[in-house]
Order: sequence, then structure tokens, then C-alpha cells
Amino acid sequence: MSTNRRMKLFIDTDPGVDDALAILMALAEPRAEVLGLGIGAGNVGLAHTVRNALKLLEVAGRTVPVFPGCAGPLVHPSADAGYVHGRDGFGDTGMAPPQARAHDEHAALALLRLSHEHAGELDLVALGPLTNLALALRLDPSLPQRIRRLVVMGGAVTGHGNITTAAEFNIAYDPEAAHIVLSAWPAYDLADWEAVMRHGLDRAAVEGWLGASTPVAAYFAAISRFNRDGSFDRRRTRWLCADALAMALALEPESALFMETRALSVATEPGIYRGATLVDWERRGGQAERARILMQYDQDRFEARVRQALGAP
Ligand code: RIB
Ligand code: CA
Repeated sequence: MSTNRRMKLFIDTDPGVDDALAILMALAEPRAEVLGLGIGAGNVGLAHTVRNALKLLEVAGRTVPVFPGCAGPLVHPSADAGYVHGRDGFGDTGMAPPQARAHDEHAALALLRLSHEHAGELDLVALGPLTNLALALRLDPSLPQRIRRLVVMGGAVTGHGNITTAAEFNIAYDPEAAHIVLSAWPAYDLADWEAVMRHGLDRAAVEGWLGASTPVAAYFAAISRFNRDGSFDRRRTRWLCADALAMALALEPESALFMETRALSVATEPGIYRGATLVDWERRGGQAERARILMQYDQDRFEARVRQALGAP
């Protein structure tokens, strides 16, 4: 993709702290027009994720339509990740609620409508469970034909999960939805949890960026404190910010240094593998290779995008 091409984005998200940074990255990109935020349950319940999206946009001084989506997984209930993001999903800071209201249109219907209005031009970025996208697909199986690119944050491509031994949160929260989406889309770019672990952000550097004298930096410092204290790599030196890496891949694919394309399937059966993303690395099965898996991203470019989002030099 040329670096000066304008982009039209629809972001499906469950804000959550790393979702917030990813959304700020998109808003900070002058070439990107964010046509809407589709909101799902995941990190925390839908009432919180909708409120968080509205508050983030208010702090950023931006007007982007917010469309509430599904309040839970398609089939089986799942636990949220409030213990990672705070009970309200944004660090339980007790800040005043947003003034703006969400739209009445369901996220799945908004996505379908916008896919027709911007047919062939819309980049879809999925930063949470894939429930809204699965519902949209069930309503209109032709949706992928009108989407220019799908970028997904999710999965653990060699079984190093973050919510169970083998599964990553977004997929494990709604495995049936993930199966529907990832088996229907002809091709998609994937930033999985293991890529996130390879691209952690230095703790001291992040704290320096959060000192930038901008409203979004101050706000993000406040809402992310709880998450930053809890979401580190094993050495506790690097902050793992999953959705931010996926958004860098979406905004600047040319800085992906190494991708692998393989067949990927989602385990939906009950048991210890439920929600796992099984990748045919040896190409034994002959299935369609739909997943373009991020193996290495330019770390300097990733960090430059994060700094840009916060208004940090
Ligand atoms: O596993 C990380 C993913 O789960 C991120 O999208 C985070 O926001 C949570 O939704
Ligand atoms: Ca998320």
C-alpha cells in the first residue's frame, strides 16, 4: 500500500486500555478517516465499553459515530478481563461520564451499511472478540467482498495463550464467532498474542511518552495505570499492548518486516483447547491459507506511531 493513500477505517473494539491506544493511533493518522467504532463486550461489559469509547472520543476532541454491538458471545457465556483493565475497562478512575450518546444502529448493521457506502474502500480493524463481525456475516455473507482489508488482533499461533494455556482472550471469549469470521474471510492480517510479546514497549519509555503535555497523554496515563502495572512481559520490563500493534499493522503495513501465510482454524470444542488458533505450519492439511500472520514489525515504527497517538515527541 502506498504511504500516502487515504484510508477509511471501521474499528470493532472492546475498550479496554490497549483498544484506547489503538483508537488514538488511528485518530492521529492524518491519512485515516475513522468512519465508525463498533463496540462489543469483551474486556468488560457492553455498557462500560460503549461509555469508554464515547469518553475517549470526547477527550480526543473527535466526533466519530459509536455503534453498540453484541452484549456477549454468540453461544456460550465468557468471563471478562476486568482484572486486567479495571472493572470499568479504563482503570476505574471515577472520571465523569461522557456527554455524547451512542448511535441506535447496531454495530453489525452499521458495518454492513458502511461496507455498501464505501464498497471496496473500507479497512476493517478487529480489536476485540469477533462477535459483531460474525453477526454481520450471518446477516450478509457477501460482506468480505466489499472490505478492502481485515486486520485482526487475536490468537496464539503456536499455542502460547494469555487467557488459557493455548488460547488468547479475543478468540477464547467467542470461539464460535472467531470460527465463523476466520473461516469465511478469503484473507486477513493477524497480529496474535505471540507477536505482541515480541514487540513489547519499554516501561520507562512509555512513562516518558505519557508525560507529554497533551490531554490525551494525561488521560491515557490515568486510565492505563492499572493495566500498565499488571500487563508486562516475564521480565516485567516491557508493557504488552496488543491492540496497538494490530493498529500499527493496519495503519502502516509496509513496516511489517516478516509475515507468514498459513491455514488457521479455531478450536471450538469444550476442553483445554477451546479458543486455540491451530496453524498448519507444515502445510499438511491443504486447507485455504487465509491468515497472513505477523512475525516481525519494525519496532521503531511501532513506537513512533504510539508516540504520535499520545502527542509525545
Ligand atoms: O489478548 C489481548 C486482547 O484481548 C486485546 O484486544 C485486549 O484488549 C483484549 O481484548
Ligand atoms: Ca481489545
